[in-house]
Amino acid sequence: MKALIAYGTRYGSTTDIANKMGEILTEEGIDVKIVNLAEEKIDDVSNYDLIIIGSSIKIGSWTKKSLEFLERFESDLSKKKTAFFVSCLDANDPKKCKEARENYLEKVAKKYPSIRPYKLGLFGGVIDMKKYGFGTKLMVKALSKNLEKQGIDINKSNDFRNWEEIQNWTREVLI
Ligand SMILES: Cc1cc2nc3c(=O)[nH]c(=O)nc-3n(C[C@H](O)[C@H](O)[C@H](O)COP(=O)(O)O)c2cc1C
Repeated sequence: MKALIAYGTRYGSTTDIANKMGEILTEEGIDVKIVNLAEEKIDDVSNYDLIIIGSSIKIGSWTKKSLEFLERFESDLSKKKTAFFVSCLDANDPKKCKEARENYLEKVAKKYPSIRPYKLGLFGGVIDMKKYGFGTKLMVKALSKNLEKQGIDINKSNDFRNWEEIQNWTREVLI
């Protein structure tokens, strides 16, 4: 069995999630290719049995490259087993996670109705000022009051990725 994990990231933390998924699939004996869509162009998905497509969320949106991938391969993906995932901060906020699932996953899935992903994964992300350029730092500072309410101190490195949850989700994609 061959699997493709195609993902988009802005600041790199979704790369670790894709790599963790890749490790789990490899452990299960699957031949996995992991592609950062900003670094590598995919021309053909016909060889893969399973395709996992992911993105980080910024101001409510997937990365352009991940959306382009869905757009471009919609017809091919409709014939495959697929799963979508996102990494974002709202995943860790009990007041926001339901809406995040609807807005960041279900709405995107509805936009490509023929794809019908087998599973949707909503995972926590990272907030770390050390990773950002000037513009993003300003944006995060402007959001700092709201982030504080979510228990996020922007002066620290905040990592809300739950590796056990990511591992379990990846195994469940195979069931
Ligand atoms: C400028 C900025 C805007 C963000 N906007 C959102 C958002 O609208 N919703 C959300 O849940 N998370 C938001 N996040 C959190 C990111 O999704 C989180 O930091 C994620 O781990 C980023 O992944 P990446 O490092 O792979 O790009 C934002 C983060 C930044 C820095």
